[in-house]
Amino acid sequence: MDSHLPLLVIVIISSFVVGSISIVPVAPGLSYSFYSSNCPKLESIVTNHLKQVFKKDITQSAGLLRLHFHDCFVQGCDGSVLLDGSASGPSEQNAPPNLSLRKEAFNIINDLRALVQKECGQVVSCADLTALAARDSVILAGGPKYNVPLGRRDSLNFASRNVTLANLPAPSSNTTTILNSLSTKRLDPTDVVALSGAHTIGRGHCTSFTSRLYPKQDGTMDSNFAKNLKVTCPTTNTDNTTNLDVRTPNVFDNKYYVDLVNRQGLFTSDQDLFTDSRTKGIVTSFANNQSLFYEKFVIAMLKMGQLGVLTGKQGEIRANCSARNANKVDLWSVVEEGALQLLSQF
Ligand code: HEM
Repeated sequence: MDSHLPLLVIVIISSFVVGSISIVPVAPGLSYSFYSSNCPKLESIVTNHLKQVFKKDITQSAGLLRLHFHDCFVQGCDGSVLLDGSASGPSEQNAPPNLSLRKEAFNIINDLRALVQKECGQVVSCADLTALAARDSVILAGGPKYNVPLGRRDSLNFASRNVTLANLPAPSSNTTTILNSLSTKRLDPTDVVALSGAHTIGRGHCTSFTSRLYPKQDGTMDSNFAKNLKVTCPTTNTDNTTNLDVRTPNVFDNKYYVDLVNRQGLFTSDQDLFTDSRTKGIVTSFANNQSLFYEKFVIAMLKMGQLGVLTGKQGEIRANCSARNANKVDLWSVVEEGALQLLSQF
């Protein structure tokens, strides 16, 4: 009987892992072992570097998580948000919702790019590095552990200002607007509430929420919370920031939902999730049950992380995450062409 115990443990553990992942289908062209032969150390390089970065400043985790969200929602998870503007016009980075992305987040992705390229050559995309950095940000800030499918390719171009604006909802949006916007990406109300839980870490600038304070205070906001926010933001355009989660701002936990239940959500898009009858019950269930939040967050992240991905021969593997390659021949296609030439000899 005892001799079966290890096998039983393995079966239980693997069915749990596979069970939670199998709920979200893997997009064609992506896989959980994409770089296992050509860059086996990828994940440890990323994790080790981020551990060092976060040791100095854990708040950088929030910047990286948001960067992945802004990448995926506009034109798919294709590294388009990383591209600097060019002669063809201002980039996604210059569109209003992206102006508050942290400069450090872009630098960290470029540092990861250099470290990974040194070890493996030009084989890992900037879009995958962004997805891995977001995943590690969640884990290293104390959140759930999960694997991400890899194999995304980098875009050759970025989206226009209007497309960027149309795909990233404003913090002044109510739940109807948020649900409608995210349903166009096949994200359901549970996904919406779970993804919003990313606001358990990070900061917001006064301009993102002062419309709730002036000229009239939002009636759904706790008055003490409002009083403190007015100290941080004495006028509508003060250039200060405050934490998104008033309880545990640097820990990836379920306290964001406890904030909402106590009417201490920072943005309208957060607090209205507890007012709207379609999402109120989900908020309450996450406030009461952190494991449930973690489970639904991972599912929603896996869905978000596979939006509109480029795979196979689409796009390219950028040598520099901030700029498209000078010529379109990248290592992946060189390797592939080499393999085709070899095959044609048989
Ligand atoms: C549902 C609609 C969402 C809206 C309207 C929204 C809006 C915002 C706004 C306005 C900020 C603060 C920007 C600033 O003033 O500096 C912010 C910060 C942040 N958002 Fe969201 N967000 C949404 C969804 C998400 C999602 C899906 C994620 C990730 C999965 C996310 C992750 C973050 C993080 C981590 C921060 C803190 C960034 C930092 O500290 O640098 N947000 N969000």
